Amino acid sequence: MQNKVALITGALTGIGRAAAFAFARKGAKVVVSGRRDETGEALANELRSLGSEAEYIRADVRKEDDVRDLVAKTVARFGRLDIAVNNAATEGEVGPITEQTAKSIAATFDTNVIGVLLSMKHEVLAMQSQGSGSIVNISSTYGHQGAAFASVYVAAKHAVEGITKSVALEVAKSGIRVNAVGPGPTDTGMLTRFTGTPQNKARLVEGVPLARLGLSEEVADGIVYIASDEASFVTGHILNVDGGHSAN
Ligand SMILES: NC(=O)c1ccc[n+]([C@@H]2O[C@H](COP(=O)([O-])OP(=O)(O)OC[C@H]3O[C@@H](n4cnc5c(N)ncnc54)[C@H](OP(=O)(O)O)[C@@H]3O)[C@@H](O)[C@H]2O)c1
Repeated sequence: MQNKVALITGALTGIGRAAAFAFARKGAKVVVSGRRDETGEALANELRSLGSEAEYIRADVRKEDDVRDLVAKTVARFGRLDIAVNNAATEGEVGPITEQTAKSIAATFDTNVIGVLLSMKHEVLAMQSQGSGSIVNISSTYGHQGAAFASVYVAAKHAVEGITKSVALEVAKSGIRVNAVGPGPTDTGMLTRFTGTPQNKARLVEGVPLARLGLSEEVADGIVYIASDEASFVTGHILNVDGGHSAN
């Protein structure tokens, strides 16, 4: 991991932020990306203060120009792109299918599916020109299980797993690995918004054999592993970091 260049989308909070610190601790050069400049610059400064070479680059993953710029600026700054973590996502409008609208569905898919596809397009272009790279998409247990009242988010995360496997097959001969990490319920701002009440959050734990929520740092460790050369023969794989949720 020493001196590898790692880019993370949606890196300013939660799992993305934890991943930034995990890569930095392993000696990677880290590009943190997001939509809030002040928070992003502060995060980059915090990473630098720990001895990491780090940059913040603004990008809204729904916009192809932003994503193209993000990859181009990363390569301009650090000379290459070794690892890309497509983490940015929204929980969207949680609720019954009968209350979904074309607008609410499109808003979730714009970030969680189109954002991943656009990010992968530009990451793969950069990695193909250097003949190597490792992409990690962030899925969910909801990428391969159902969940009542979360059909749009579930649909989007199922798409992420299909995209992961398809692009893994497409780019394997270019020396690029593509995997996903599927977190179980992890104690972040998204989970708090997603569940709405402390009671709902506590109820989610009932589906976790290890009987607790995950920590962002635990998911980050899974991301770093599957991105790293230690997983050099692993591609098209979904690594569940979910306390056993997917074993149910
Ligand atoms: N927490 C869980 O239980 C759980 C479980 C399974 C999977 N996941 C997945 O884990 C990943 C990280 O989520 P988290 O739990 O760490 O939640 P989070 O703290 O809300 O992180 C999501 C990040 O994505 C950013 N983002 C949203 N839309 C964006 C856009 N269009 N362009 C760029 N950035 C955007 C958010 O930035 P803003 O602050 O600007 O909105 C935020 O920093 C997501 O893919 C999520 O679906 C989480």
